[in-house]
Amino acid sequence: MELHRNKTRSIREFESWAQSYDHSILNSLLFEPSYKLMLAEVHKQARGKSTFRMLDIGCGTGTFLAKCLASGLKMEVTGLDIAYNMIRQATYKSEQIGPNGSGMSFMVGDAEHLPFASGYFDMVTCSNSFHHYPNQLQSVREMRRVLKCNGQLLIVDGHRDDPLGYLIFDVCVDAVEKHVHHCSRRQFIKMFKEAGFQKVTQRMAGLCFPLLATLGKA
Ligand SMILES: C[S@@+](CC[C@H](N)C(=O)[O-])C[C@H]1O[C@@H](n2cnc3c(N)ncnc32)[C@H](O)[C@@H]1O
Repeated sequence: MELHRNKTRSIREFESWAQSYDHSILNSLLFEPSYKLMLAEVHKQARGKSTFRMLDIGCGTGTFLAKCLASGLKMEVTGLDIAYNMIRQATYKSEQIGPNGSGMSFMVGDAEHLPFASGYFDMVTCSNSFHHYPNQLQSVREMRRVLKCNGQLLIVDGHRDDPLGYLIFDVCVDAVEKHVHHCSRRQFIKMFKEAGFQKVTQRMAGLCFPLLATLGKA
């Protein structure tokens, strides 16, 4: 019941934020550095592959996927988000960006119950969204399920083990967003292993807003 209430709160928050999301001050401080970090990793994974299917979970207005295609990557990308208004903005954006937009599709859905066949994607990404999921282990299990063998999961979220990150994410973000949970480095590793990832690596990035990237190989 409590988990359901937390999810409803998230949906309400993001349905109303969708229209102004792309103009938020957080874009330059938090979201852009996350996209940069993820884009470098996606390039590494997609290099040399003739077909590459990627899913971005909690995709918001689809900016990261648009950046992937604009950077020259030839791939089929899907964005999933629980907020209908975010998906509406993402779809509108994909229609505005010309031929690149045709490789993108967006759908409303929940990270804890992914509407895809097992072993479908080469890579799953998730940025600045994971701390909203009430059942985080279930989400990681779902992410693992939809990945091909040797596929990669990349989750980027606030780095709460860093002293500044603790203040920003565990104190301030928690006070504003309520009932969110930023995982520690150790919690991410434990969850990835429990969900069946073979190899898990982590990277820290970000200046004003410390970020933690966790990468798992299925
Ligand atoms: C801060 S935004 C991040 C958007 C984008 N990934 C980025 O980095 O700019 C968090 C997004 O997660 C989505 N979200 C929250 N809970 C979710 C869930 N259970 N399943 C899928 N998306 C969810 C929200 O609707 C919102 O669009």
